[in-house]
Amino acid sequence: MKIAIVGATGEVGRMMITCLQELNLQPEVLDLYASARSRGEILYYLDKPTVVQELTEISLSKHYDYVFFSAGGGVAHAYAPSALQSSELIIDNSSAFRQDAAIPLIVPQINGDLLLGYQGIVANPNCSTIQMVLPLAVLDKEYHLNKVVVSTYQAVSGSGHGGIQTLEKQRQGSKLKGIYPEPIDLNVIPQIGVFLDNGYSTEEEKMRIETHKILTRDDIAISATAVRVPVIYGHSLSVYAEFEQEVDLAQAAKLLSQAPGIKYHENSYITPLGLGESNLSQVCRLRLGVDSRSLCFWNVGHNVRIGAAANAVNIMYAHALQAGKIDESHV
Ligand SMILES: NC(=O)c1ccc[n+]([C@@H]2O[C@H](COP(=O)([O-])OP(=O)(O)OC[C@H]3O[C@@H](n4cnc5c(N)ncnc54)[C@H](OP(=O)(O)O)[C@@H]3O)[C@@H](O)[C@H]2O)c1
Repeated sequence: MKIAIVGATGEVGRMMITCLQELNLQPEVLDLYASARSRGEILYYLDKPTVVQELTEISLSKHYDYVFFSAGGGVAHAYAPSALQSSELIIDNSSAFRQDAAIPLIVPQINGDLLLGYQGIVANPNCSTIQMVLPLAVLDKEYHLNKVVVSTYQAVSGSGHGGIQTLEKQRQGSKLKGIYPEPIDLNVIPQIGVFLDNGYSTEEEKMRIETHKILTRDDIAISATAVRVPVIYGHSLSVYAEFEQEVDLAQAAKLLSQAPGIKYHENSYITPLGLGESNLSQVCRLRLGVDSRSLCFWNVGHNVRIGAAANAVNIMYAHALQAGKIDESHV
């Protein structure tokens, strides 16, 4: 299999390399691209050194089975359409194509069937959205979801490497705000992205619009509040959900504990530091909401893994399996 990663030196790109290694995949070609800043840097794949190349107009004229884009929306817009001329599947981590009706927005455990026979660009959803829709899809199927009110507690790595550097410098005493509108150390910031005319931020709107698209349910009422917190890795979400049907709490817990991609905690909870290297969306503190048609739960996921790299690699894996490029032994 021939694979390229654009943005290989970033938080998500490096984690993609890790996730591909965890599948024990032995690609025939693995080309790593980044900006001119990283040209010549050495990254390792299964102990094999690979030199990072500068992304240029001709880099992606080669044939690849899979090209992962993880270098922001501008790079995706500029290079993904032309990469399609020579490659089969482009998996983009940015928000560039997510709202395009012609581009599938995939969480394989929910709508991986859209990949069957597909060639083109696939969008990887927003990090908080991926971890939230995994449990919501299970509950929607059983009880018919009507409304979601969610507040997020999002790690600084969600802003890329610059977010981690900003927090680390402030922890060491820097008074500079870095990439955030306010200091992030010893603080929380109720702004992720830019504010729109309706008062919501772009991050909050992504959670609403992308959840509608993945669940193919535009009628679900969704209100999100996205907050940055001084955590390095791991987004936490407080989710309140209302349903058409009455909810059986024990049954809901059982459904969540059996669902793929989810780890359910019965009488305990998980924190971002407890995630380790988990690729699962973790659900705990499940309880009834204001009545028997509503639920509350706490949802924690590693934003760079399940929120980005692991979901992207899961998309590649699901597509490759359906296309007969790999077999089940790569798990
Ligand atoms: N971090 C998360 O939790 C997360 C979650 C979901 C989605 N995403 C999305 O994933 C993408 C990458 O995020 P990240 O967190 O990995 O960011 P990051 O740590 O800032 O890394 C950005 C990567 O893009 C590369 N890049 C920047 N400009 C480029 C150019 N002109 N040509 C080629 N490569 C270029 C950088 O290369 P250099 O090292 O050479 O600068 C680096 O490899 C973004 O679209 C982000 O929105 C991130």
